[in-house]
Amino acid sequence: MGSTILVTGGAGFIGSHTCVALAAAGYTPLILDNLGNSDARVVDRLARIIGTAPRFIEGDVRDRALLDKLFREQPIAGVIHFAGLKAVGDSVADPITYYDNNVHGSFVLAAAMQAAGVRTLIFSSSATVYGDPDSSPIPESAALRPANPYGHSKRMVEQALADLQHAHPAWRIALLRYFNPVGAHESGLIGEHPQGKPNNLMPFVCQVAVGLRDKLAVHGGDYPTPDGTGVRDYVHVMDLAEGHVAALRHAAQQPGLVTLNLGTGQGASVLEVVKAFERASGKTIAYEIGPRRPGDVPAYWGDPSLAQATLGWRAQRGLEQMCADSWRWQQGNPRGYES
Ligand code: NAD
Ligand code: UD1
Repeated sequence: MGSTILVTGGAGFIGSHTCVALAAAGYTPLILDNLGNSDARVVDRLARIIGTAPRFIEGDVRDRALLDKLFREQPIAGVIHFAGLKAVGDSVADPITYYDNNVHGSFVLAAAMQAAGVRTLIFSSSATVYGDPDSSPIPESAALRPANPYGHSKRMVEQALADLQHAHPAWRIALLRYFNPVGAHESGLIGEHPQGKPNNLMPFVCQVAVGLRDKLAVHGGDYPTPDGTGVRDYVHVMDLAEGHVAALRHAAQQPGLVTLNLGTGQGASVLEVVKAFERASGKTIAYEIGPRRPGDVPAYWGDPSLAQATLGWRAQRGLEQMCADSWRWQQGNPRGYES
């Protein structure tokens, strides 16, 4: 068995896929998740993909005593910290809950790691820290202008971890800013299953394709983009997962802090996603162009060249594969892990 990596939020969408990539690279994932936005049945699905069930601890990252116990029980080589809340609208409605989970949770974890002498941390940040950027592709050096409590929480943790690394240079930290993660593992056994009506584009398109929703509301057709609809940098979740493994390997080589965009470097419009999904699924996606969604940015995509230069990582999977894999998961699991 390879080095154990503690994966907080490892039962969630990106965390579960990262457990697959970790196992493929010879690491042993140890999942800590409070199941606030996930389902313990993901562990059985992971066992089917990996060959053995990863160890799963149901618990909260804010529980210092639990963390101390985990770090005492076995040698842990590093931590990938996904645990957090991510719905922008909820963060506006209930900011303290967001700061408590995302900021306080990260502080409790970092303090427990410091006490245990575990100094390797990969942190899930987001392109949302850029807010409405001046131009695309966005480099890591762009101004940070988060526009809501969720985005502020990510920026605050980034700053705190940079200060920690400055104070204690033995730390090895990667702040990974994800663009728009979509897709699913190619087995169709794990994927994203949002509770209630999806906010995000790809899960909504999937639910239209499988007949759970009548049609997609396209939020705005009058943006200054080639077809008038919003443009984003969609990145396959398995590419992201592999980016975390590359970040761990990099951290093992040298102490320090890196801040990296994980995206493809290419934008796709809402209608391009709809068309790609129709090709991948053979289904027609009914849609209606409606008003803009408040707070939406017209278009942005990332510059992933620093991640490539630093980690030797580059997204391999294109929009067609993102759609095909999302569709395989959705079709096989229309009600998520209950299916
Ligand atoms: P997710 O909700 O599927 O996964 C997060 C997991 O963390 C869930 O399983 C949840 O139950 C768990 N969790 C939440 N709070 C916890 C706590 N206090 N203690 C223990 N477990 C807790 O979300 P995801 O899409 O996999 O996102 C993972 C991380 O990546 C999050 O930090 C998110 O902010 C960040 N991120 C996500 C996106 C995206 O679009 N999915 C984009 C950028 C950044
Ligand atoms: C949203 C979050 C962002 C988060 C990202 C993760 C907001 C303001 N931002 O970004 O913080 O990091 O998800 O994936 O919530 N769209 C439709 N119809 C829909 C849903 C979406 O037309 O039913 C359009 C949107 O207007 C946008 C694009 O699809 O142009 C992508 O939307 P979405 O998947 O919600 O992601 P973001 O808005 O980029």
